[in-house]
Amino acid sequence: MKKVCAIFIFCCFATLLYSEEKPAGEDAKGTKKYEQFEKPQACQSCHTDIYQQWTQAMMSQAYTHHWDEIEYFDLAVEHAKVNPDLKDAVDGCNGCHTPMAFLAGDVTPPRPEENSRANESVSCEVCHTITGFKDEPNFNFNFISEPGRLKYGAKPGLKSPHHDTQFLDIYQEARFCGTCHNEKNPFGIWVKSTQLEWEEGPYSEQGVPCHQCHMPKALGRSAKMAQEEMVAQHLFHGAHDPGKVGGSIELRMHPEERELEYDETVVLKVQLFNGKAGHKVPTGSVEDRIMWLHVTATDVNGKQYHLPVDKKGFDGEQYTIAADELAYIDMGIPKRDPDFKGVQRDGVPVGDRIFRMPYFDPDGIMTIMQWNTKSLGVDYRIGPRETKIETFTWELPEDIPVGKLTFRAELNYQKLVKPVADFLNVPAEESEIVPVNFSTTWIEIYE
Ligand code: HEC
Ligand code: HEC
Ligand code: HEC
Ligand code: HEC
Ligand code: HEC
Repeated sequence: MKKVCAIFIFCCFATLLYSEEKPAGEDAKGTKKYEQFEKPQACQSCHTDIYQQWTQAMMSQAYTHHWDEIEYFDLAVEHAKVNPDLKDAVDGCNGCHTPMAFLAGDVTPPRPEENSRANESVSCEVCHTITGFKDEPNFNFNFISEPGRLKYGAKPGLKSPHHDTQFLDIYQEARFCGTCHNEKNPFGIWVKSTQLEWEEGPYSEQGVPCHQCHMPKALGRSAKMAQEEMVAQHLFHGAHDPGKVGGSIELRMHPEERELEYDETVVLKVQLFNGKAGHKVPTGSVEDRIMWLHVTATDVNGKQYHLPVDKKGFDGEQYTIAADELAYIDMGIPKRDPDFKGVQRDGVPVGDRIFRMPYFDPDGIMTIMQWNTKSLGVDYRIGPRETKIETFTWELPEDIPVGKLTFRAELNYQKLVKPVADFLNVPAEESEIVPVNFSTTWIEIYE
């Protein structure tokens, strides 16, 4: 009996020790080899649709995409050369953008043009070898990777000629995505918090994980030889899909009074409702992204006027109204230009309302270098199912003609503020203006 007990206790200890030993996050650097992971092409022949979907998603380009390459090699890696304390954090970029390279200890990985295995980015094997996590909440690639013949997924009892399968409930959970979609930087600042935003919002309460909007299920075959059933589509569509961004915020606008005399003042109200995103908008790379509201009036003669937004008076509001100011001076450090004066902060019409959260460098100046962010400013983004109201008070110009005056409100989105994109020679598609929504209204002007 004693012996059995001893063996039992030993086994418990061994399991405990073993599970504690499985490295995750920072500790997993260099603990694996590339050869332990299969290439995505090995999955293609059977998982045809999923493979093709993945090649069109940003997941397959997380390391090779032009802007990622520019920010990583021209800013982050250079910054770590100037300030070696940043080396671990900058190696850590790869923990999410090319996890196999990180696990294989291949950091700094070769440039994308060298066509190394780092180019596989967030591959099939990166996700389907995850067996658990180290912390709660999940952040900074804290997943446990166990590559091998066994592939893990969200369905029990599947049979495959190429590999074994195992069901793990984490594959249906938002925290699975949180391992890479939440990020804490070297200053302890949450520079990415999509899953945490989701957690605080209405969708987590209602049991609607990321998957329902980014990996929707449809009738099909997950592998060529499989039964037809509901299959998770590997779309991962987000900021790089204008159709996903478009319509995510709904707009409506009305005047306080429909009829005005020519010397009066118009008051317009615009409602902005986040009806479709499970997190704040913008989310993710918040340091890069802006969304702004542009309102114009057009009189009977076709003359156009631009209406600046009314100030509300909250702390930090100056960062949410487009201004003619310089920022991003810290780019001068990796660029080794101590006299760098910065570039335009917003690059959108002065007076427009911007929905954003500013990131500040240690000098308190706005930065897009998330690893160099020491504090965050006012969070003026639109939360899931939140409605914000903006007011535009506009004294009619003296020469306004009588008749109909029409108004148009446009909400636009940009992945990367244009002055930064231009300065760093990031291809134009990264700073293209993506229309989110618009609304129109009118008033009548009398003599
Ligand atoms: C020779 C064909 C074939 C190849 C090659 C193949 N698979 Fe599969 N795989 C299948 C079949 C069949 C299923 C079961 C599908 C079903 O019944 O719905 C499956 C199921 C899966 C599942 C679902 C597991 C679950 O429990 O939910 C995952 C994940 C998976 N494969 C990953 C991969 C990855 C990653 C690769 C490449 C490294 C790969 N497969 C290569 C045939 C293949
Ligand atoms: C191993 C890390 C990792 C995991 C796990 C992960 N992602 Fe991502 N995801 C990334 C990276 C890195 C990018 C950024 C790609 C880029 O633009 O460079 C990204 C981008 C995205 C995008 C934006 C695409 C675009 O068009 O800009 C969406 C949407 C997304 N992921 C959804 C998910 C969902 C849903 C899950 C969970 C089922 C998930 N991700 C799990 C690393 C991960
Ligand atoms: C960012 C992580 C991620 C990447 C990359 C990824 N998958 Fe998946 N995959 C998942 C998750 C999560 C599920 C479960 C989704 C669900 O059930 O809601 C899944 C489900 C599957 C399934 C089962 C689908 C079903 O519903 O029957 C297969 C098969 C599969 N993946 C294969 C692949 C292959 C092949 C690739 C590469 C071409 C790939 N996956 C890339 C996260 C990923
Ligand atoms: C109710 C649907 C819904 C849910 C749930 C949801 N999303 Fe989204 N997501 C969207 C929509 C719509 C967009 C496009 C608008 C935008 O960019 O925010 C989006 C955009 C994104 C983007 C790109 C954001 C950007 O501006 O770069 C990422 C990354 C993303 N989602 C990840 C996630 C993750 C991770 C989860 C779970 C923690 C999640 N989403 C849950 C609907 C959803
Ligand atoms: C914890 C995981 C994680 C770490 C660490 C991380 N990233 Fe990311 N990164 C992501 C995810 C997820 C996205 C996509 C967010 C979105 O779509 O808004 C992203 C987006 C980006 C983008 C914008 C891509 C685009 O196309 O708009 C760039 C550039 C980038 N990361 C560079 C870096 C650099 C450089 C580092 C290191 C200093 C780094 N990342 C560290 C997860 C991470």
